[in-house]
Amino acid sequence: THIVTESCIECKYTDCVEVCPVNCFHEGPNFLVINPEECIDCGVCVSECPAKAIYLEEDLPKNQKQFSKINLELSKKWPIINNSKPHKKDANKWKKIKKKLHLLKY
Ligand code: F3S
Repeated sequence: THIVTESCIECKYTDCVEVCPVNCFHEGPNFLVINPEECIDCGVCVSECPAKAIYLEEDLPKNQKQFSKINLELSKKWPIINNSKPHKKDANKWKKIKKKLHLLKY
């Protein structure tokens, strides 16, 4: 499966959902997750993300491994998002900030 990581928090560009052929993205207040049971590992979302937040699970950086569980659990709670939407005005500012896990809302 592919996994959405920390870089997405407060950015939530949603470009990724436009290209997903199986609608496996779920939306929370300031983050998206992938349902690992639906993701077919096509990988097309990876290059769409301006924040470079999406990784193949096997390639997750060490400090992002906890996002496997976060994607699994939150995808069960959050609704599917099928269409991209305008991102927040300050998304580009948040893109530069690495430590954002403490800001995750759910
Ligand atoms: Fe998040 Fe990147 Fe999608 S910032 S919403 S994973 S395009």
